[in-house]
Amino acid sequence: MATNITWHPNLTHNERKELTKQSGVTIWLTGLSASGKSTIACALEQYLLKNGVSAYRLDGDNIRFGLNKDLGFTEADRNENIRRISEVSKLFADSTAVAITSFISPYKADRDSARKLHEESNLPFVEVYVDVPLEIAEQRDPKGLYKKARQGIIKDFTGISAPYEAPEKPEIHLHTDKTTVEESANIIVEYLKSKKYI
Ligand code: ADX
Repeated sequence: MATNITWHPNLTHNERKELTKQSGVTIWLTGLSASGKSTIACALEQYLLKNGVSAYRLDGDNIRFGLNKDLGFTEADRNENIRRISEVSKLFADSTAVAITSFISPYKADRDSARKLHEESNLPFVEVYVDVPLEIAEQRDPKGLYKKARQGIIKDFTGISAPYEAPEKPEIHLHTDKTTVEESANIIVEYLKSKKYI
């Protein structure tokens, strides 16, 4: 191990890529609650890590209970939730990791801002629409939240009493009522390979 430390005042993104042998990218999963975003994100993250690609998932569990624990589900709070997640995922992508975000992100303008933020830094942004008919998400209802939303116990619930603006031109459109988790994750992996992001 060399003991003479040399360093650059500031590595460029390209220098970072050469050193880590990776290129950063943000995979932005969007869709209704119970659409399958987090399950797909988990499968994708594990596939990447097992294949030597540094990847990290941002989701409600590690963001809404930490950095964003001051935010609820009003439109303004969701805007701020997504704005902060956009900035954090951009940093992960800049570090040359694969950032996988898994949030409803119901507003098109917020997702477009996330995309713009990445594009301004020449970082790729892959929007993945995790699509499922509302009736099926409501049947799945793993946390019983749709039921509570129908009863009026939970206000501003996406798909019931708050809007979901579907992506118009996502890079990837998944239909989780027709594909398995593995198939969905595989579609994303194939896309990443085709673009030489991994
Ligand atoms: S987002 O709209 O701001 O992107 P986010 O993905 O962080 O939402 O959080 C959604 C998760 O919070 C849901 O999967 C559900 O478990 C829970 N949740 C609690 N209240 C609501 C609500 N009013 N609308 C949607 N999801 C809610």
